[in-house]
Amino acid sequence: MKRRRDGLAIFPGSFDPITNGHLDIVERGLSLFREILIAILVNHEKRALFSVEEREETIRQVFRGNRRVKVETFSGLLVDYAEEKGATVIIRGIRAISDFEYEFQMALMNRRLDPKIETVFMMPAESYSYVSSRLVKEVFQLGGRVSDLVPRVVEKRLREKFRPRRGRSGKESP
Ligand code: PNS
Repeated sequence: MKRRRDGLAIFPGSFDPITNGHLDIVERGLSLFREILIAILVNHEKRALFSVEEREETIRQVFRGNRRVKVETFSGLLVDYAEEKGATVIIRGIRAISDFEYEFQMALMNRRLDPKIETVFMMPAESYSYVSSRLVKEVFQLGGRVSDLVPRVVEKRLREKFRPRRGRSGKESP
């Protein structure tokens, strides 16, 4: 195993896109851990709106200037990645009981795979308890307002995806 880096926690997920609920978890995590590594899963099977590169770039922009938050992508088993990074903690956000079953299964499976790695569940503010990346995409696509639910840069990216600006010719502007 690589050298253990105490105080480093991994916050893994799809982040398609990152929401204010995720940001809330990162902020709370920073009060417990010295450094948070946001790890975006490279999942070729799951159809995502944003490419992994787009997600990584967006999250980097959101946390620009915060030296305690790092952003990377990973593939393969999460526990292997955590081990490679020397992290012993995985952070997951739980919004409601409905999240719990899946999260509990994952945490126990990860513990079985690597008993040295501990999963820490954190609750976002109640105001984000209904916010998910999936709903944000759906609401935005149907014309709803998501400005309180995602960082500005994410809203901009959503606009570029769903409502590309058109020039006079009717073609998309560069
Ligand atoms: O944001 P998500 O999609 O709920 O995140 C799920 C994620 C990325 C944490 C999970 O799918 C994962 O860890 N995948 C990596 C592969 C792995 O380790 N699978 C076994 C987990 S028990």
